[in-house]
Amino acid sequence: MDKYIINGGNRLYGHISIQSAKNSVLPILAATVLTDEKVVIADVPRITDVRNMLKILQCLGCRAYYSGNDVIVESADAGNYEIPGALAHELRSSVFLLGSVISRFHKAKIAYPGGCDIGLRPIDLHLKGLKRLGVKIDERNGFITCESDKLCGNEIMLDCPSVGATENIMLAGVMAEGTTVIKNAAREPEIEDLQNFLNSIGADVCGAGSGTIVIEGKTRLSGGRYRPIPDRIEAGTYLICAAMCGGKVTLDGASGEMLSSLIHKLYENGCKLDVKDDKITIESDGRLHAVKSVETQPYPGFPTDLQAQMTALCTISSGNSIVTENLFETRFKFVPELKKMGADIVVADRCAFVSGVNKLRGATVVAQDLRGGAALVLAALAATGRSEVLNISHIDRGYSEMEYKLRAIGGDIVRITV
Ligand code: EPZ
Repeated sequence: MDKYIINGGNRLYGHISIQSAKNSVLPILAATVLTDEKVVIADVPRITDVRNMLKILQCLGCRAYYSGNDVIVESADAGNYEIPGALAHELRSSVFLLGSVISRFHKAKIAYPGGCDIGLRPIDLHLKGLKRLGVKIDERNGFITCESDKLCGNEIMLDCPSVGATENIMLAGVMAEGTTVIKNAAREPEIEDLQNFLNSIGADVCGAGSGTIVIEGKTRLSGGRYRPIPDRIEAGTYLICAAMCGGKVTLDGASGEMLSSLIHKLYENGCKLDVKDDKITIESDGRLHAVKSVETQPYPGFPTDLQAQMTALCTISSGNSIVTENLFETRFKFVPELKKMGADIVVADRCAFVSGVNKLRGATVVAQDLRGGAALVLAALAATGRSEVLNISHIDRGYSEMEYKLRAIGGDIVRITV
């Protein structure tokens, strides 16, 4: 298990280039099963979640591999419709392969992905939506088996704007007969990116980002080349890092539009930001004013995937903050680790009550999940003294080359392979 050794206290100066969005690349990779022609996805980050998705595609009979910074998927010889259990557990987001595998093979089987490190993560809305398109679903012995002679378009109303359910239904609808309408659809930028990818290979999808998505089914899709949008969560993570450590950092490739909820919080913290369409520069003296409240909401509200990082920032802001996690049940597992560094936080139900301290102190802490682990790295870089962050395989799931990017702007961080 690798770990980071971090000596905190350095201010950060320089540029970071932002990777393609993990949460775009994963559904787009699932969508490549829809066509038997070659698909090239440009500038794909080398992260564990992508490598696991490539393994799943290979199990389905696809040729799926990195070629330089691109990923190439050729599904002409795909024929297996069973998503392997061990990999499905590794990668929860494999569940939205159901939609594309059913579209292609009219059958799909997946181990129930179950809960994971941040909450229950049910898939009832995924299954309800697929049933509305004519999929017969059998849930037995921990497996979900789906069958459908013919997918038929229909209107689906989501009880909540689930990102994964929206994506799964889109992938099942693009080759269904007739029109599919998804109401109360998720509005995340990654949904719009999936729509743009699908249309680039011959689908007919519109409305992504508006809450109502309309899909006209097609009989076959083609291949092509596509570059996903930049990763707004990676960008937000490094913006918060610069705010906490102080200095001046520019994120090349980041989109200000996709991060406006965070940017407005950072203004409240007293940071200076120069926001352009394709880059964001942040300047901070490291002495932050506390924001009164942070509430995670579906897009365009404050992203749950930046909650842990923002909570870390609150621990060294002057004043008190209340952070409310409205989307997932157990997304505060990083808090006990921050308390080892001297943070003053009390968690009650979905709220973290934070009283800012002047400085955190270095400690040995353990990453519990992807975004919580990133928050611990940020805290260690801003703390005084030496820290060790253990179990960083969680972080490797979603951040490529984190230690290189941070060292390039002055962070004192090294990876030790143990
Ligand atoms: C996606 O997860 C992201 N993952 C998550 O990012 C992100 O936190 C989440 O969306 C919210 O933005 C990927 O895109 C691969 P949801 P997903 O379905 O699709 C409830 C990261 O760190 N719900 O929008 O699983 C659910 O319980 C990851 O990169 C149901 O009730 O999220 C939750 O409360 C973590 N029934 C809420 O919806 C369902 O069938 C949001 O979940 C599905 C979801």
